[in-house]
Amino acid sequence: MSDLAVVILAAGQGTRMRSSRPKVLHLVAGKPMVRYAVENAAALTTRPPVVVIGVGADAVRSELGDAVSYVVQEQQLGTGHAVAQARPLLEGQADLVLVCYGDMPLLRVETLRQLVQRQEEHDGPMTILTVISEDSMGFGRVVRDQQGRVREIVEEKVATPEQLRIRELNAGVYCFQGDWLWPHLDQIQISPVGEYYLTDLIGIAVAEGQDVATYTIHDVSEVQGVNTRVHLARAEAVMRKRINERWMLAGVTMLSPETIYIDESVEIGQDTVLYPNTYLLGHTVVGRECEIGPGALLCDSRVGDHCRILSSVVEEAVVEDRCTVGPYAHLRRGAHLAEDVHMGNFGEVKNSYVGRGTRMGHFGYVGDAQVGVGVNLGAGVVTCNYDGERKHQTVIEDGAFIGSDALLVAPVRIGRGARVGAGAVVTRDIPEGKLAYGVPARVRDEEKS
Ligand code: UD1
Ligand code: CA
Repeated sequence: MSDLAVVILAAGQGTRMRSSRPKVLHLVAGKPMVRYAVENAAALTTRPPVVVIGVGADAVRSELGDAVSYVVQEQQLGTGHAVAQARPLLEGQADLVLVCYGDMPLLRVETLRQLVQRQEEHDGPMTILTVISEDSMGFGRVVRDQQGRVREIVEEKVATPEQLRIRELNAGVYCFQGDWLWPHLDQIQISPVGEYYLTDLIGIAVAEGQDVATYTIHDVSEVQGVNTRVHLARAEAVMRKRINERWMLAGVTMLSPETIYIDESVEIGQDTVLYPNTYLLGHTVVGRECEIGPGALLCDSRVGDHCRILSSVVEEAVVEDRCTVGPYAHLRRGAHLAEDVHMGNFGEVKNSYVGRGTRMGHFGYVGDAQVGVGVNLGAGVVTCNYDGERKHQTVIEDGAFIGSDALLVAPVRIGRGARVGAGAVVTRDIPEGKLAYGVPARVRDEEKS
């Protein structure tokens, strides 16, 4: 592929979103819209894209960081003016310039690749992406002559009744010959509404006797821009469906896929089954042959193979192979269940490592704890990690048995194989192999045991 630069227009006001957040930072499948454009660019060229920012510039910068270049369009004087802002960075730099929008998250990289390829194959100065659609969506019309050659693009506002009937629409995505684009931007005249229309370049090229090429698609959803929250919800629905279908084709079973929400950044292993009302969000990774849901929410978490997670919330946690979790369990930040852990109903684990094969079947709280291998935590066991000022650690060594309703007042250590009686309040360390019970808990002395 030729040397390609990408310009992403993202300076627009987005007034109709009625939001204090810049439009392009609204999320689609958990990802800010503008990121889809940035990722498409990254798939096409190693050159960082130039993002034209204006309204909410700082917020966009802090979202995208230094993976892209920025130019600021102080006043939103139209798409032609927006592209012109990138001229100082790109003139004389790249053979081809692809222009796309930051608010068109559904556009496929394959479509862009085809568009660029079409431009590479012909001699004219540009190729425009067009879409055939019954619904005009307010898009500009592609006007052709009797030989079918593109003559101009007419904005809907100024189109004649005859032009309004044209079903071939301008998607707003273009691939230009760089050395033609930059000088010709100066030739765009200000429109009656005070904007410089990028689309005027088509008429300008034709007037020069140049050939304008098109690449046409039929899936309108790809080029639907997001201007309102209604559009946002539609884009979300299309993206969700795409993501779900991608995973189903990759070997994931979904019961009622329309009730399953998977963010773009999630990964799922083969033969995993997702039951209804399940959310896999953020950077969640789920292994193979798991059963997740119904009613599970996993966010930024890593789940191994062969796990079963029923109606539960798992946030920033790690769950290793063959664990069973829930129903109604809550794994919070820093929870790490090693292999074969069983965590039943109404349990909560936070900032704790729970060793292999440990069981906590029925309610209880494990926070700031190190729990060993093969420990049994009875119903209602609580690590009392907070003294009102600071958090303290609980250590439960391998094979310990903690009776129901025991309170372990941290900092405290339960030795290997030690046993704690039901209802005990443990305020001091229990040595290895000992039995402790009572309130406060005392260790049973050797003779009696
Ligand atoms: C534009 C096209 C229209 C096409 C439609 C497809 C022009 C004149 N018209 O119309 O033919 O059918 O896209 O979606 O180009 N932007 C800036 N700075 C500006 C103006 C716009 O960055 O000064 C950005 C916006 O944030 C947006 C994109 O450019 O992402 C498109 O702008 P918008 O005003 O929505 O163009 P349309 O009127 O929809
Ligand atoms: Ca209790």
